[in-house]
Amino acid sequence: MNIVVDFITWFLRFYLSPMVANASPVLINGRYRIDKGIVLWDGKPLLGAGKTWEGFIIGVYMGFLASLPLYFYFYDTRIVLDGLFASIMALLGDMIGSFIKRRMGIKRGDPAPILDQLDFALMATLYYWFTCSFFASHIYYIFFSLLLILGLHVLTNNIAYYLGVKDRRW
Ligand code: CTP
Ligand code: MG
Repeated sequence: MNIVVDFITWFLRFYLSPMVANASPVLINGRYRIDKGIVLWDGKPLLGAGKTWEGFIIGVYMGFLASLPLYFYFYDTRIVLDGLFASIMALLGDMIGSFIKRRMGIKRGDPAPILDQLDFALMATLYYWFTCSFFASHIYYIFFSLLLILGLHVLTNNIAYYLGVKDRRW
């Protein structure tokens, strides 16, 4: 049982902020597209209308806020710095995901399984991997965290769909 508590604590320490950062942008209806409507050589948008500055800013802000209660639990200033930087990385990962989707010809909002659920988490993982040895020394935890995030996404999307909050199951 100890290892479960240990994992959950570790998971929240590192992935709460990126998850909150990734989930927050949908709450506001952003208007200012990050790609400014740029279309690339393939005739598809650089990122698409789903990536806005308002979304980016609210995501970083909420991800940062989410790290504050963790700070009062761990009493380590690294937590709030990580809350900020991991949130920025998460949203960059989300943009990279959209970039890849557009290049693959997948329309904004259409599903790209795995990529949709993990783009943000992989970038946050990369950030921690190179900046935190306590993170990098827990390879099994990292692997299990990514699996958990994948599962949580499927679960929450299905709940939202059956509650009628979302019109698609992904
Ligand atoms: N969003 C935003 N700005 C961001 C990220 C997300 O405004 N930087 C908002 C958009 O309204 C977007 C919603 O959050 O539609 C959900 O985000 P996401 O699923 O990442 O975007 P999709 O619309 O699915 O677009 P894509 O196909 O590019 O992933
Ligand atoms: Mg999407």
